[in-house]
Amino acid sequence: MEYPVTRLRRLRSSEPMRSLVRETHLEPGAFIYPLFICPGEGVRNEISSMPGVCNLSIDEALKEAEEAASLGIGGLLLFGLPESKDEEGSGAWAEDGIVQSALREFKKSAALKNLLLIADVCLCEYTSHGHCGIVKKQGEAYEIENDSSVRLIARTALSLAQAGADIVAPSDMMDGRVAAIRDELDEEGLEQVPVLSYASKFSSAFYGPFREAADSAPQFGDRRSYQMDGANLREAMREIELDLAEGADMLLMKPAMAYLDVIRAARERFDVPIGAYQVSGEYSMFQAAFAKGWLEPQRTMMESLVSIRRAGAGFIVTYFAKDAAKVLG
Ligand code: PBG
Repeated sequence: MEYPVTRLRRLRSSEPMRSLVRETHLEPGAFIYPLFICPGEGVRNEISSMPGVCNLSIDEALKEAEEAASLGIGGLLLFGLPESKDEEGSGAWAEDGIVQSALREFKKSAALKNLLLIADVCLCEYTSHGHCGIVKKQGEAYEIENDSSVRLIARTALSLAQAGADIVAPSDMMDGRVAAIRDELDEEGLEQVPVLSYASKFSSAFYGPFREAADSAPQFGDRRSYQMDGANLREAMREIELDLAEGADMLLMKPAMAYLDVIRAARERFDVPIGAYQVSGEYSMFQAAFAKGWLEPQRTMMESLVSIRRAGAGFIVTYFAKDAAKVLG
């Protein structure tokens, strides 16, 4: 049936009509809000490249978490800025580490009982060189060692789960880390803690502002020997297959907007829950355009989130979580 019998505009005639036929919906429970926890008390330092996002001491982070909970947000993704860093990133698995301490504090709050606490598992915020693993140097050349890094990453995941993380989310991209984390958790009686794997994390310029927020920029070289080449969709599917075989319970696709095709391909191929991370650079570029008055903030933000959902992400890690939850009200 064609025009004039078929007129697609009939179903766009009013907001109730559009609402009736809308295919993709957002809800606050599908948002995960990242927090950057730093030492001290009463600290709330705004990240210059990420307006509205702050480094927060535990007491301030708790307030932020309680606000997120009251808005119905699904969970938090926690990152830490330790007091000091070393070659191995020992702050990542310290019992009194910054995220471990935050988790223990958050677990005491009744207001947060419906908020999932997800711990990002990586070494880059804790290593003096800023890489996500152990660096072996030979003169000018260097290598990020896989297997020794995996042991420390598994130890970090265990320590975060013991401190109360509801989900651990490895973001380092070392080979074999999901299996090592699963092993370590199961051995210590934490077989109920799920692994959310950043299975196909791309080496992306869009992480730039995060590295200011988490103080985790590599001091030399880059992450291209462990994070994926942005040109490779088939390799992304292999990474996901391996992580699922190693025991990953869920996937976190990242970045989001420049990789919507990868999210879609993963959604069609794998029957596990899939989330996507609208990363720092995506947020910063919108904020820059908002500040200039070049894009309408609310509509742009919601359209970006709908696009990620439509591509196939069930949940979205986003710095807009609070703002978007308020819009959905
Ligand atoms: C840690 C990690 C990074 C991000 C999440 N976990 C940084 C990186 O890999 O350089 C990026 C998140 C963002 O840009 O918002 N490895």
